[in-house]
Amino acid sequence: MRPRRLRLNEYIRDLARETRLHAKDFIYPIFVVEGTGIKREIPSMPGQYHFSIDMLSEEIKKIEALNIRAALIFGIPEKKDALGRESYAKEGIVPRAVGEIKRASSQMIVVTDVCMCSYTDHGHCGILNDRGQVDNDKTLLYLQNIALSHANAGADIVAPSDMMDGRVQAIRRALDEAGFTNTAIMSYSVKYASNFYSPFRSAASSAPSIGNRKSYQMDCANINEALKVVRLDENEGADIVMVKPALAYLDVVRKVKDSTLLPVAVYNVSGEYAMLKHAVSAGILPPEAIMETIISIKRAGADIIITYFAKELIEELG
Ligand code: PBG
Repeated sequence: MRPRRLRLNEYIRDLARETRLHAKDFIYPIFVVEGTGIKREIPSMPGQYHFSIDMLSEEIKKIEALNIRAALIFGIPEKKDALGRESYAKEGIVPRAVGEIKRASSQMIVVTDVCMCSYTDHGHCGILNDRGQVDNDKTLLYLQNIALSHANAGADIVAPSDMMDGRVQAIRRALDEAGFTNTAIMSYSVKYASNFYSPFRSAASSAPSIGNRKSYQMDCANINEALKVVRLDENEGADIVMVKPALAYLDVVRKVKDSTLLPVAVYNVSGEYAMLKHAVSAGILPPEAIMETIISIKRAGADIIITYFAKELIEELG
């Protein structure tokens, strides 16, 4: 047997290739800020920007021209308080951004991150009790209202990233009762307490001011727990499950893919982006390292890839 026969030239390698990336695999994250006329590079994430709402339609048209059909919206409010009031305001930053995107492209799939950490003054993903702990069941009521405010503005998919127990069921129930039966839920089911979120936290000013997120995000050492939470989210009515981060967790991606019939989304997070971006711009790695990395996520079992690299990869795929 001569395996090299299928490696002889580019055409034959293309023919025998097992994993292919396509623009339609990707969800592109977008950070939205208050103000006007803003397109400002995010220092911790070179090549990514803060956009004010009036600048969104231009960006959406650009990604649509690349055949990317889904955007994940993160709102960064001007005001924060202990209850994260801006997160569920009817005219909050995310609902207004969703409206603007839908006006620019009614077909674009708009996914919204449902969480409280950018909106609370303490930076935790939920409401705190008297002892300073995140109160799971109280937070569920807030998450329902956040999801409703996004669905009401026209979001196609809401994506809870808070990691409270029971949130998928709570959100599904609230959406259905309000008549949003077609709004899908992409659950950040398997979200580890990871060091690789740091650049995002400075971009979204969402770092916890006290403590860390280990009482609600998962321990990086666990994999059975990943399968457990995927099963729970399936039963609660999730439409898509997610594994996050990607690279240090490709074994988890494979196991989750083999354990569920739901589409599996994988989030190539900010730290993974920043690492590669810096290595390439310093000339330590060739730019092709990016494609190799994103292919590995799909090969591991991702059906959907959320990545800050989406635009530049598609430009390269041609
Ligand atoms: C909000 C949220 C985070 C990310 C997505 N949604 C940060 C966190 O949990 O602290 C991370 C995304 C990234 O690092 O690219 N909870």
